[in-house]
This record gives sequence, structure tokens and C-alpha cells, in this order.
Amino acid sequence: MSSAVHNNEGLREQFLRGMSRVASTVTVVTTAGEAGLHGVTISAMSSVSADGERPTLLVCVHHRSAAAEAIRTNGRFAVNILRAEESFVSEHFAGRVRGEDGDKFSCTDWEAGTTGQPRVAGALAAFDCVLASEQRIGTHHLFIGAVEELYLGETGEPLIYSNRQYGRPASIQ
Ligand SMILES: Cc1cc2nc3c(=O)[nH]c(=O)nc-3n(C[C@H](O)[C@H](O)[C@H](O)COP(=O)(O)O)c2cc1C
Repeated sequence: MSSAVHNNEGLREQFLRGMSRVASTVTVVTTAGEAGLHGVTISAMSSVSADGERPTLLVCVHHRSAAAEAIRTNGRFAVNILRAEESFVSEHFAGRVRGEDGDKFSCTDWEAGTTGQPRVAGALAAFDCVLASEQRIGTHHLFIGAVEELYLGETGEPLIYSNRQYGRPASIQ
């Protein structure tokens, strides 16, 4: 049976349940610069516009993530689109799995684009961005990145997160 919820506490829970039904691509946002090297798994990533001076995209990062302050200081970040085979990279950058040396970046291989931002080696796609705009909404920083360099790896399937589990896309005939 469907239900409508109006009180705020219930609304938060229902919001989370509703969002768990969304299917999102899983990305790792990385940043390097004077604030050091940081990265975090996020699903809140969206294209904003392909047109304008440069294409733009949006990422939403929790204010408690060390990556959020680092992105603000470094003024640059890369958005790495993970492959369906890379859920382990997502798990490391979400802090759910820890490698022996405790360094998230040890879980896979890296390359650097001309902008110097860390790119997952052989990523499905990676967008190197300069921070164009930011806003804080509640617990999250909304970062708009202007894309400076784009990497397209070999074609493959993106890693999907929906219903609180990983998956891969399936075509409909
Ligand atoms: C599939 C998945 C999607 C996530 N999406 C987001 C997101 O969109 N924004 C965010 O701030 N955290 C997101 N998280 C949670 C962060 O990855 C997690 O809080 C991480 O531990 C923060 O890293 P840090 O505190 O070590 O910097 C997601 C986690 C997973 C596993």
C-alpha cells in the first residue's frame, strides 16, 4: 500500500527509503593539491550542462568528509566513473573496507591527467574539473566542477548502486 508522510522525522526516513530506490552510478571523487590527497565514494553526481565555456557537473559531498575541505582548498577535483568490476574501490573510498597500510589509494592503480588530479587507471570515464562554484545545503557541500580534461577508457559497464546494493545495468529489449 502507498503511504504519504508529512511529519519531519518520518519524512527523513521515507526520504532515505525513497532514495534507496534510485539507481545511481558510483563514482570516486579525488583531489590533490596543497590540502593533500583525498578521495571519497559518492553516488550524488550529475551532469549540469554540456554547453557554456566548459561542460559542468555537480557532486555532493558530506561536510564531515575530509575530501570536502580538500576540494575547497585545492580548487580542483576528478570524478572517476567506476566499472561494474570495481565495487572494491567504492568500498575502500567509502571507508567500509580498509587496506593493510590504511591508505585508500592503495586499493587500485592511478594515473594523473594534465591537471594533476588522480585518475583511476583504466576508469570507465574520468572528468578532471576546476571548482567553479560551491554551496552548502544542510550537511552537504554542492560542488560544481568545470571540466578541463576528459578521459574515456575502454567501453564497459558502470557500477550501479540501488536498493542498498551494487549492481550492473541490464538492457531492456
Ligand atoms: C555507494 C555509496 C554512495 C555514496 N554516496 C555518497 C554521496 O553521494 N555523498 C557523500 O558525501 N557520501 C556518500 N557516500 C558515503 C561516503 O563514501 C562515506 O561517508 C565515506 O566514508 C566518507 O569518507 P571520509 O569520511 O573518509 O572522507 C556513499 C557511500 C557509498 C558506499
